[in-house]
This record gives sequence, C-alpha cells and structure tokens, in this order.
Amino acid sequence: MTTKEYIDNHQQRFIDELLDLLRIPSVSADGKFSNDVKKAADYIKQRLESAGADIVEVCETAGHPIVYGEKIIDPALPTVLVYGHYDVQPADPYELWDSPPFEPVIKDEKIYARGACDDKGQMYMHIKAFEAMNATNAQACNLKFMIEGEEEVGSDNLETFVRENKEKLTADVILISDTAIISNDTPSITVGLRGLSYMEVEVTGPSRDLHSGVYGGAVANPINVLCEMIASLKDANGHITIPGFYDKVAELSSDERKALNEAPFELDEYRSDLDINEVAGENGFTTIERTGIRPTLDVNGIWGGYIGEGAKTVLPSKAYAKISMRLVPHQVSDEITDLFTKHFESIAPASVKVNVKPHHGGEPAVTPTDSTAYAAASAAFEKAWGKTPIPTRDGGSIPIVSLFKEVLGLDTVLMGFGLDSDAIHSPNEHYGLFNYMKGIETIALFHENFAQLSK
Ligand code: BES
Ligand code: MN
Ligand code: MN
Repeated sequence: MTTKEYIDNHQQRFIDELLDLLRIPSVSADGKFSNDVKKAADYIKQRLESAGADIVEVCETAGHPIVYGEKIIDPALPTVLVYGHYDVQPADPYELWDSPPFEPVIKDEKIYARGACDDKGQMYMHIKAFEAMNATNAQACNLKFMIEGEEEVGSDNLETFVRENKEKLTADVILISDTAIISNDTPSITVGLRGLSYMEVEVTGPSRDLHSGVYGGAVANPINVLCEMIASLKDANGHITIPGFYDKVAELSSDERKALNEAPFELDEYRSDLDINEVAGENGFTTIERTGIRPTLDVNGIWGGYIGEGAKTVLPSKAYAKISMRLVPHQVSDEITDLFTKHFESIAPASVKVNVKPHHGGEPAVTPTDSTAYAAASAAFEKAWGKTPIPTRDGGSIPIVSLFKEVLGLDTVLMGFGLDSDAIHSPNEHYGLFNYMKGIETIALFHENFAQLSK
C-alpha cells in the first residue's frame, strides 16, 4: 500500500482522533483548565506512541508540559524536527459560538471547535503523516516531535527547554504547520512572521471613584486621558508616533514589494468577508504590506469605570488598556517595549499617574526560500495541490521560530494549511476536512522530497 492509499483508507479514524483531542479544553491562559492541558499532553503522548515513535516523553516544565517524541531510523538520514502546540486560546465569548467550542461538530465539510485549526488540527496532521509513513515503510527522514502547551501564552518555558536540550533537538530543519495558505486554489508557504510586544497600561486619576457631578470638569478623568493618550499614538497617516519606533524597520526594495503584491488578493472579498466598508491602515502601503511587512499598534482591550446596567454617574479612579505592537524585521521586542514605556510615561499629563507593564513578546522571523527544505515543501505542494506555492508573509507571530534559529541554528519551514477565514482565536473556529487530509498528504511528500533532495 502506498502512503497516500493508507491516508485515504484511514480518513475516518484520522478525523475521529482529532475530534477526541478537540474535546479536551486545553486552554493554557486559564488556570482552571490546567488538568485538561495535562490531559491533552497525555493524549498526544499516546497517539505518538501508537503512530510508531520509539521514545515519547511528557517533559514537565515550570508551566505546562512539552511532549517530545522521536523515531530515528538511520543516523545518516536527515532529521526533521516538528514543532506544534496543543494548547488553545480561551473560547470566550461562548455565547457567540453556534455550537459549544469543546464539542466538535462537522458542518459543511469543516470541523468546528476551539483549536480545530490553531493548532490541534494542524499539529495532528504531522502525527498522522508519521503514522502513515511508518505503516507503509515509507519514513524517509528521522523524525523528532516537540509539541508544547504554552504557545498561546508566550512559550516562556519552551525557551528554557530548547536552551537546555540542544543535543536532543539536533536536526536539519524545523517543520511547523501553524500558519495559513492564501486559499485552497492558491497554496502558499509562509516565509515571514511578525514579532510582538504586548503591554498593559494603567492610568490613575483621583485615589477613589468620585461623583461625576460634584467633581466632573475639575479633576482629570483617567478614561478620557487614556483615550487621548492612545489616540495620540498614531498620526493622521496611520504612522505610529513613538520616537524611534521605525528606526530598525527593514525597508523592502521596490522589487520585493512588487513580488509581494503579486499574490492574489481581492479587496472586495476581503471587505465583504469582514463586513467593513473600507480597509484602514498606514498610508502608502497595500493591505498585503500592512499585515506582512509593516509594524502595527492595536488596543486589544480597554476598561474602567461603570459598565453595569443602567447609568451610574461616576468619575472613575482608574482606566486600563492592553496594547499590542506587531513587529517586523529588524525590530527587537525588548527595545520596542522600552520605547513604548518611555513614550507612554512621557505623554501622561500631570493630572494622572501611569503604570506600564510588559506582557510577553517575541521576535519577527524571515525564513529562507533558497533552502533544500523550502524546495522540498514547494515540490510537495506542487504534487499534492497541482500548483507551485507562493511565498507569503503572515501577520501573526510564532516567536519560537527566531529562537530556533538563534539557539539551535536551524531554519524553519512554515508549511501551514489553514485559511484566514478559519476564525482562529474567534468564535466558530473551524478547519476544513479538505485541508486536514491534503495537509497530511503534503507533509508525507515533504519528508520524501527532503530525504531525496538532501542526498
Ligand atoms: N498560529 C498562530 C500564529 C499565526 C496565525 C501565524 C496565523 C500566522 C498566521 C499562533 O498560535 C498565535 O496565535 N500566536 C500569537 C502570539 C503568541 C505570542 C501569543 C499571535 O500571533 O497573537
Ligand atoms: Mn498557533
Ligand atoms: Mn494562536
């Protein structure tokens, strides 16, 4: 039996196993799910074992465990290190889901559940591709798996794990499916990811909530002040006003920008999908550029004062916001965090106090297109999808990619199979059965090609 036949023959079980994994609410950000996170790790361990791994360990960390597995068939062959994550984002707001987030359903050939695409569905394709190759005596490369449970909260403990286990993690390339393709008609390979700097700010006015009639007009309202401060972080052209923010931003040549914009993109479809009348962003850049090669600043949440039912007349003591900045090569997360902090403190009027606290961050990454591994991935898409994949820059972040390069000296191939419309991090997240099955097939072809091209 060929590997492809094996994959086709076992489609139903491959789907059922993913559904079992999706039933485990492994939300890394919320302590009340920590048992479920552990359960998901154990499930991955079991599945790696039954797929044929020789060694599988659940490695404890200061946080959630990392599942490590391997099957080394011949030290002379190249080694592929697969990275993925089994943790998921919180499913809130639950009421916006058409079916419960941890009770997966298949509708219109798509699996609906939190983590269906990001990243359980995409990660699990690698375990099934491994099973299929192993079962058909077709494993062409040595395989290592490193599946973590803290990607959605910044991968702090994975960083420690990687630094402490360089020997164990020796490989020729890292392979990750945790990104998107342009569409099922236009496959693509991600060659750039943005970095991240995530801040929380607190603005304090008076030491207690005040009557907004008795004091209003005479005492600074921290919510009003916070809004003004945030508004001033961008100018009319959509440029971020933090001094030094753009100093290290890599400017692409006009040829590079031209190539980037040749990727198919339908502005009308984009607008209607999001139900917006117009896009918005930095002047002088296209939508592809705004998400791919330009940094951003966004408020992710803002709160303070009275938000209960009815109206309470109050001049609040405090206002808060969570603000993220997406970074591009060669910005450095810690430097941007510093620049933001200094600037935010400097623009605060004397009538308030501000406190700026950094959350997690991560570096941007660019992966090579002239490598053996890229060629192997490209040829795998060509065979399975009938089209040469287009290299693209994604707007999201996988901070560990730059760390792999720094600590292990390894390049990554970002062979994702999701779609931007899969609603990752949103209600009704889903993943197409087509993408799941095609992904498994493409991954198996990658291994075959990588071994062949490495000779
Ligand atoms: N898989 C995503 C990143 C992603 C999504 C890359 C789509 C490219 C296309 C990942 O799980 C994620 O959500 N990362 C976080 C960063 C992390 C530090 C919390 C992100 O991008 O917000
Ligand atoms: Mn992910
Ligand atoms: Mn995610």
